[in-house]
Amino acid sequence: MAVIPFPGARGLTLPAHPDPWLDTLLHGGLPHELAYAFGGPFHLLLPERFDAGVAAFRAALDEADVDGRVYYAKKANKAAAWIERCAAGGTGVDVASLGELREALGHGVRGENIVVTGPAKADDLLRVAVLQGCLIAVDALDELDRLITLAATTRPARLLLRRLPPAQPHSRFGMDDAELHTALERCREAGDAVRMEGFSFHLSGYAVRPRADLAGELVDMCLTARALGLRADRISIGGGFAVDYAAADDWERFTHEQSPADYHAGKSFATSDFYPYHSPVAGADALRAILAARPGGRGAPLAARLRDCGVILLMEPGRALLDRAGCTVFPVQGVKERDGYGILTVGGTSLSLSEQWFNSEYLPDPVLLTDRPVGAPSPFRACVGGATCLESDMLTWRKVALATRPHPGDLLVYPNTAGYQMDSNESPFHDLPLPPKVVVEAPGGRTRWRLDHRPPA
Ligand SMILES: Cc1ncc(COP(=O)(O)O)c(C=O)c1O
Repeated sequence: MAVIPFPGARGLTLPAHPDPWLDTLLHGGLPHELAYAFGGPFHLLLPERFDAGVAAFRAALDEADVDGRVYYAKKANKAAAWIERCAAGGTGVDVASLGELREALGHGVRGENIVVTGPAKADDLLRVAVLQGCLIAVDALDELDRLITLAATTRPARLLLRRLPPAQPHSRFGMDDAELHTALERCREAGDAVRMEGFSFHLSGYAVRPRADLAGELVDMCLTARALGLRADRISIGGGFAVDYAAADDWERFTHEQSPADYHAGKSFATSDFYPYHSPVAGADALRAILAARPGGRGAPLAARLRDCGVILLMEPGRALLDRAGCTVFPVQGVKERDGYGILTVGGTSLSLSEQWFNSEYLPDPVLLTDRPVGAPSPFRACVGGATCLESDMLTWRKVALATRPHPGDLLVYPNTAGYQMDSNESPFHDLPLPPKVVVEAPGGRTRWRLDHRPPA
């Protein structure tokens, strides 16, 4: 089987970082075997990469001598494989709905290792969360009141108070200074009904500095809360640890060169519409940088502040724990040419590539796999559409550069899709079945695959 990479063909490219282990797997015939079995698109999941991601975050905490806990933000991918790993390894899970909470508990994650985020949580969610001893990030005063009332008749509620980020005052999440002041009073008055464990935030974007600054403020707020007799011994800095999908040079070139001529139908994207596909500081290194930064640009680094004040650092990475932990495979169903470029139609839809639904485009280049004999390279550029009746159902508006003309039965593999791309938006549109998820593991060096365990709906 030939794996046809993209270089050589003219056109705007953004190759994903090399992934030799995955390349070997894709070379080995498994994708065509699975495409034959499922007769449509599917996702590959690589949970060992998830384990490595968790271990990297823990290592960053250990290096900085900081007591911390990692909670996987479950919203980033619905598969059971990740929460099975969390349950087995004692990793926490961040959930934002009753369904996510049930999934986490059902796969063995202990309630005490779950943090419940999201705004205005429904009573059903709060009730199960309290009964299971989860940590609840309270978003607003009325939610706090409901929680205190509920806790008075069930069991003490473990909670964090979520801070509206001063640098993002238009965020609809969290409480401002005055609300937090009131919230602290209400926690104090609630006595044993609540265990106020600290504060939380989640920032948009991926910058290190604002996270370190706000974390420093939250440490100070813990000290204030302790003076009121509250426990306040931890803070959560949420998610937003960047993923580095592509090399700096490639990203730089892409963002400078891209123009409507590179896209089907002359579609245009501003660079700011795209996820920052290259990040010089990403994943666990971003945590290292946050811990090393001096909040507010002065005093001790955050790591020392946390230690000195006896504050535990919680974090909720989603995308970063799923870096290189999966890819998505679409069978080519049709190829035609128009205005000097190709239009590929693949089995499945762009709902399996969620970025397409946010006025954006998932940019890491797809890779063509074929089990046909391929002669001399014949560069081919094509956009990629889904097998639906919608003009807008485009997996890739860009005319991606392929080294040969694809044929029906070839496979198009989108790399590194586990973080948010795979299933955030999937629906059985046109009665198309949802793409199955295939878990690939290599225990003892032997590659095995199985379907992801999903409880019956
Ligand atoms: C409260 C909270 N925590 C964690 C996350 C995960 O963010 P990321 O996947 O960027 O790490 C989100 C994402 O929206 C969030 O809202």
